[in-house]
Amino acid sequence: MTTDTQDRAPAAIRSLTGRTALVTGAGAGLGRAYALALARCGAAILVNDIGAAGAAETVQLIESEGGRARAAVFDVRDGAASAAAVAEAGQVAILINNAGIDEGKKTEEIDEASFDRMFDIHLLGCFLCGQAVIPGMKALGGGAIVNVSSINGMIADDTDPHYNAAKAGIIGLTKAWAKELAPWNIRVNSLAPGHVRTPATTLRGSERMRMVSETRIPFGRYAEPEEIAEAAVFLASDESAFITGQVLSPNGGEAIVGI
Ligand SMILES: NC(=O)c1ccc[n+]([C@@H]2O[C@H](COP(=O)([O-])OP(=O)(O)OC[C@H]3O[C@@H](n4cnc5c(N)ncnc54)[C@H](O)[C@@H]3O)[C@@H](O)[C@H]2O)c1
Repeated sequence: MTTDTQDRAPAAIRSLTGRTALVTGAGAGLGRAYALALARCGAAILVNDIGAAGAAETVQLIESEGGRARAAVFDVRDGAASAAAVAEAGQVAILINNAGIDEGKKTEEIDEASFDRMFDIHLLGCFLCGQAVIPGMKALGGGAIVNVSSINGMIADDTDPHYNAAKAGIIGLTKAWAKELAPWNIRVNSLAPGHVRTPATTLRGSERMRMVSETRIPFGRYAEPEEIAEAAVFLASDESAFITGQVLSPNGGEAIVGI
């Protein structure tokens, strides 16, 4: 007999038992959905966020479903803190580099501090969290890293040029790590979502969501975080064992791009 939790795991990918996954920015939105989906497949989750309350809530949600999770409150820009959290957790087999921000700014509104913050949270944060887990993954004989980019890492948006550039940089980092780490059986892929209903996007208001849905998304709606989480679980699991250095973009048909 299966439990409710097992019923929610896709049939082909109930294979993460015994693995620890670090999910950054997992106190809300997509990160929380990734953490819950991985936990439903049996992984123990290290729930990172810069906000303690959000991380604690995600841990509680996972535990209420019978999953295993622990909060790891740190800023992904802090390499020493991420290394310490990983050392305390033991070997991490899965890293979902998800923590991120956006600002909705035009070029003239972006000062150097804002530019640095955008690049540091997205690109440096991915890099430092990768550095923290890679030695353990090598010792384990493999691992899976999913670097969260965005549809705007591939096609332009007319706001947040520093976000667009940082997300494109994440795709570059993904490809470089895929080559470098393949000999250790560490797979590195990018997930590049289109528009998703999360705290970050709902803050912009329902009128914007309606306009974007009608004019830009062939499916006519934003994705729910759970739909994107299915793709993250796939890239984190052995079902994608021969896939590395790739960009998977669940975006409702908004952009269909080549290599
Ligand atoms: N929502 C979308 O439509 C969409 C589309 C494409 C890509 N993305 C990307 O997905 C990721 C998550 O987006 P979301 O919409 O869920 O955002 P969100 O704002 O709802 O959640 C982001 C989480 O990251 C945390 N965070 C922010 N800075 C941090 C830091 N320095 N260290 C640790 N945690 C930090 C926040 O506290 C928050 O809990 C981001 O990288 C975003 O760029 C989102």
